[in-house]
Amino acid sequence: MTNKVVIGAQWGDEGKAKITDLLAQNADLIIRYQGGCNAGHTVVADGKTFKFHLIPSGILYKGKTCLIGNGTVVLPEYFEQEVKGLKEENIDLSGLKVSPLATITMPWHTEVDGYSEDNASKGKIGTTKKGIGPTYTDKMGRIALKIGDLYSKEALSEKLDVILPLKNKQLEKVYNLKTYTKEDVMELCKKYAEIFRPYVCFDWQELLRSFKREGKKILFEGAQGVMLDIDFGTYPFVTSSNPVGGGASTGSGYGPTVIDEVIGVAKAYVTRVGEGPFVTELTDSVGDSIREIGHEFGVTTGRPRRCGWFDAVTMKYACLVGGLTSIALTKIDVFDSFDEIKVCTAYKDRRNGKVYTDYPTDVYIHKYLEPVYETHAGWSEDITGIKKYEDLPINARKYLERLEEILEIPISIVSVGPDREQTIFKN
Ligand code: GDP
Ligand code: IMO
Ligand code: MG
Repeated sequence: MTNKVVIGAQWGDEGKAKITDLLAQNADLIIRYQGGCNAGHTVVADGKTFKFHLIPSGILYKGKTCLIGNGTVVLPEYFEQEVKGLKEENIDLSGLKVSPLATITMPWHTEVDGYSEDNASKGKIGTTKKGIGPTYTDKMGRIALKIGDLYSKEALSEKLDVILPLKNKQLEKVYNLKTYTKEDVMELCKKYAEIFRPYVCFDWQELLRSFKREGKKILFEGAQGVMLDIDFGTYPFVTSSNPVGGGASTGSGYGPTVIDEVIGVAKAYVTRVGEGPFVTELTDSVGDSIREIGHEFGVTTGRPRRCGWFDAVTMKYACLVGGLTSIALTKIDVFDSFDEIKVCTAYKDRRNGKVYTDYPTDVYIHKYLEPVYETHAGWSEDITGIKKYEDLPINARKYLERLEEILEIPISIVSVGPDREQTIFKN
């Protein structure tokens, strides 16, 4: 196995965790490189369901090193809760590590996120209210706390002298929210220091170097998806980090040269939670069927996911900006009972008939776009037990091969159910 990055190629929830878990079997080090507990990652192993938010999905295998990388934002209480849940399941956490350079989501970040969402009369994003945007804003604004700061009273004190006067002014004057005293925050940070103490990895440089030196296998786990990327997604209806393949090099401590492959996980249809454009969205009974059969409800927030046909326009874009070398296509089994399956190959502007085969990055025109579809015959057969590509029904193979043709990239993995076993590796 080479060093691989697993990323979401749509708007998140593509089944990344299932693929990460599978590939983690042959990896030594698994790194989550961006996002925070806005992620909801499901792994079904031997009939048992695990849900991860921050901890890399490779943790279920004993003896793997799982690093929460510098590019992530970490909500301490959520991390604590996740650790507790895994301990109760007797999962071995001896390989769990957290980068001291990861950014801390402080209470004011979640409060501001909640306030902004609840009070937005216009431009609501539909965030997970986990403080993601405000934490990354402060990281880029150079007024955030890093996990490493928790272990130096001096650094913490100096930083808070800069951060708090500014933050309190903002909280009070802009948001009408409660302010914080330095004593309150120092006390809170003491608690946070204890939460992270067993896991914080101060020797991460030597750790990363040694894995590389010894030719060990590294797997990078992305969260969210390309269309939620802060640079390339449907901005401003995006998250605040870089889920694209490139994020793995800035968010892990390894540069781009250690990466051999980028696998883009995509569903055989598209879902999205939260606001924002979605050209192939189905608001009819077909969309309802996809939601029901595919159990499309958010892992983190429980919200029903918006559903639509596979969008090859955004997918082609994701192949490019995500840096994909192949695709893992998931949930194709959801179509087992469908007579026909549609794939959007272009967008048409209903104002002037202009046809787009390249993704138009100006999202404000998306409301004028309608999908141009090609229709494929279904296979009307239960494929959830199929193990070999050749055993898939001919119509399923035709559909997959057509996607490869449109996208000009191979499909390396086909997932036909949530369980580890329900996976076809296609060479
Ligand atoms: P992630 O955020 O990309 O890791 O995906 P989520 O965990 O949020 O959502 C994917 C859901 O689909 C989970 O409930 C998975 O167990 C499930 N799943 C993954 N692959 C398949 C598949 O091939 N078929 C079916 N039916 N379910 C799948
Ligand atoms: P995984 O890793 C799907 C969406 C939110 C919202 C937007 C911004 O499970 O695929 P944020 O809280 O990040 O500021 O919200 O991004 N979003 C996700 N949608 N899957 C996710 O993660 C998501 N993480 C954030 O719904 O539209
Ligand atoms: Mg998810």
